[in-house]
Formats: sequence, structure tokens, C-alpha cells
Amino acid sequence: MRISRLSGAALAVAAGALIGVPAAQPALAAPGAPGAPRYSAGAAGVGDPYFPDQGNGGFDVQHYDIAFAYDPATRHMDAVTTITAVATQDLDQFNLDFRGPEISELKVDKHPAAFARDGQELIVTPRPKLKSGQVFTVTVKYAGTPPVITDPDGSLEGWVPTDDGAFVAGEPQGAPAWFPGSDHPTDKATFTFHATVPEGITAVGNGSLVSQTTENGRTTFVWDSAEPMATYLATVTIGNFTVTESATPSGIPIYTAVDPRLVTQSANAVSKIPDIIEYFSSVFGPYPFSSTGAIIDRAPNVGYALETQTKPIFSSSPSVGTMAHELAHQWYGDSVTPTKWSDIWLNEGFATYATWLWTEHTGGATAQQTFNNSSNYGRAATSSFWQTVLADPGSVDMFGSVPYNRGAMTLHALRGKIGDTAFFKLIKDWAAENRHGNTDTAAFIRSAEKASGMDLTAFFDVWAFQKGKPASW
Ligand code: TRP
Ligand code: ZN
Repeated sequence: MRISRLSGAALAVAAGALIGVPAAQPALAAPGAPGAPRYSAGAAGVGDPYFPDQGNGGFDVQHYDIAFAYDPATRHMDAVTTITAVATQDLDQFNLDFRGPEISELKVDKHPAAFARDGQELIVTPRPKLKSGQVFTVTVKYAGTPPVITDPDGSLEGWVPTDDGAFVAGEPQGAPAWFPGSDHPTDKATFTFHATVPEGITAVGNGSLVSQTTENGRTTFVWDSAEPMATYLATVTIGNFTVTESATPSGIPIYTAVDPRLVTQSANAVSKIPDIIEYFSSVFGPYPFSSTGAIIDRAPNVGYALETQTKPIFSSSPSVGTMAHELAHQWYGDSVTPTKWSDIWLNEGFATYATWLWTEHTGGATAQQTFNNSSNYGRAATSSFWQTVLADPGSVDMFGSVPYNRGAMTLHALRGKIGDTAFFKLIKDWAAENRHGNTDTAAFIRSAEKASGMDLTAFFDVWAFQKGKPASW
């Protein structure tokens, strides 16, 4: 409708001239019409069912430039984060998510802006106000010690100090510990990190190492993550690391950083990275990023691994299976990301099933044997395991066994139902069609029905939406 692109003021003048009333009627302006801004505050969150404050309304982040100096000895950070965003409504106020240390200065474009903090919300009042479609920057200067965040299940994330640096992980809500932003998986952006640390310490970020320069006893590492990334997958992990650079047979650069105390125990899992990437590429389609690798740190109080984009992070020396799981997430989780956290099985079920396939591929148990075993379908029907709904496990059980094991079982059962040809085409197409995007369980069901030509309502009802041990499907 071209006419709607006329300015609201012009329409009011024309109407006023016709019926003989005063012309200026700004309240009648069409919402969002150019030249007739209707300013309001952006929403404080995107309304995720598990973390309703995460993300923000009214703008879309394009890029984060995160620059900081960190001293492991004092745990002090001095940081400047610059966010580039596009307004999606006329804004007189907007929020960011931030749980980090004290802010000394905040600017929108080049103008100092008023701000207030309320829990994880950083409320910004830009002046001049922002118009829909406008590209703007927010520059936030802050200093202090970034916090450790405790999750609903009691585990630690955010900025977790180690004996030689910091283990930095953000799933599902740790990213705002160290940078302000829009902390929901649906607002992906590119990232550049500039991390300055004492000479001899390494700072390992997502993406490619652009430069590493040492001056006056401090080294600055610049990392560039050119493919879009959800905030929860960002890391700049710091410590003593033994760094190795190589490449997969098809030429994808590999950067591994391993705590020197863990090099020997980790050697086997690290040596499998090229084979794992090649095998998964053959089953899931092309590796979705321009580099790969791993960060193997010593963070005994963390106790889990995370699929940080391009370089999964491990809090201890990983098994080959855990390495395979985190690398599988690069396709399912990092490139193809859930639209809401309740769909976490699209991450964990796929990564777990990928590991079953890897185990079979390397001569271990077949996927069918793993499906049958006592951690999976072999669990007694009376086990409490069967009392959690796959497609809505709750925030406390997001990383419990159901999204992983029932998720992988669901995929294996689906494979049995629709046959190998349709199943393997489905999971490849799923990775291609949703590459670098967001999607959900309903879309997966539609894709599965399309790939198989079958009505899968009853199948997914039993496996994904109902409690109880599926008996037939
Ligand atoms: N997504 C991680 C994996 O499966 C696990 C994970 C991330 C996790 N954050 C967590 C586990 C918090 C427990 C608590 O590889
Ligand atoms: Zn996982």
C-alpha cells in the first residue's frame, strides 16, 4: 500500500482542508509512518517462557564490538562494548540485558544517554530519540569484576574465575555477566573481541584470530566472529593455554587451546576433531562456520562443556564422545538455534543423537543398541525420567537427561518410522534451511511430515508432548 507511505501529517492537512477543521492532528498519524514518529519504550524482554526478561523489543542487534582488559590476579576488568543495532520501532527508551560491573559512561551514537539499572535490565533513554529503521550505536564503558551467574539448576556460568584466568560461558543466561546486549537466542549478531591480558596468558574467543600483539607486558588478542552468533554462545576464555593450529582435510582452520595440565589426557579427543568434523559434514551437510577448534580449560566447579560457537569449551579433559557432542552442536544449536528455550531438545537431542551415530561409525554400539540401553529406552516405565515433557522440560531440567536422551530417542524412533532415506534427508535439509537462523519444534514436525509424506501428529504427540514411556508410535 503505497499511500500508507504518505506522511501522517500530510494526510491530516489534506483531511482538515476538506472538512474545515484545524490541520495539525499528530495523534492521528499512522503508526510508524515516516515523518510521523510515535515514540514508545521498547519491550524489556522478548517473553521467552523460561527467561521472560531475556532479549529486548524495539531494536535488532547487528554487531557487538567488545573490548576489555582483564587481570586474572585482581579479577578486574576494564571494558567498552559497542553495540550496533537497528531500531524496529520509534524509540524514546530501550533496554539492554546486563549483569556486569559498574557503568561509568553510556552513549547512544555520540550523545551521552541517561540510564538506570534494575536487575538484569539496563534501561536507556536516548536523546535524540530513535526512529524506526535507524541504525544506531550504544557504547557502554564499565569496570569491575564480572559476576558468576547461578542457573535455575544450580550450575555456574557467566564469568567463572579459574586459578589462571576465567572460564566464560553463557548458556542460558551468563552472557550479560560480561557484556551488555540482547541476550536471547533469537537476536543473533556478528562479534569482534579485543581482549588484553598479561603477557603469557592467552585469551581465546569465537571465530578467527585477527591479531595478537604484545606491548608493555600485555597481549591483546583480537577475535572476529563473522558468522551470526547467539549471545549465549560467545566466549573469551582466559588462562595458560597450549595452542595448536591445524586444519581439517577439507581445509577448515582448527585452533585448539588446552590447559597445559590437561594436554596429555585431552590428546585423544583433540586428535579426533578433523575426523568428527568430516563425518558430521557427510551426515549433516557442510560445516556451518569458517573455523573450528576447542578450548579445554580447568574449571572444576563448572563441570560441564558448552558448544561455544566455532570453539566448544570444556571445563575438564573431554572424552571423544563429549567432543563429538559439542562439535555436533555447531550444526544443531549454534547454526540452527531454537526460537525459545523450551525447545532445547532441538539442541541437546540432536547433539546426543549425533554422538550415537559417531559411536556406531567408529565401531562401537549401534544407534539401535544405544537406543535400547538402560540410559534410554531400557529405563523402566516407572522411572521418573518419563515424567518430563520433551518439548517443555522446564528451566530447571533444560540440561537434565530428558532433552538429551529422550530427544535422541525421539530422533531414532522417527528414523525407524520414516526410514533412513527420508530421515537423513530431513536432518540435512533442516541444517541447510535453518542455517544461521532460529526455529522450533512445530517447524521440525512440518519438515518431517514433508520429508516423509506422512502424518506424524500421533508420533510427536507420544514422543514430544506427552509424559510417559512411549509404548507404540
Ligand atoms: N549445552 C551444554 C551441552 O550439552 C550443557 C550446558 C550448558 C549446561 N549450560 C549448562 C549443563 C548449564 C548444565 C548447566 O553441551
Ligand atoms: Zn549439548
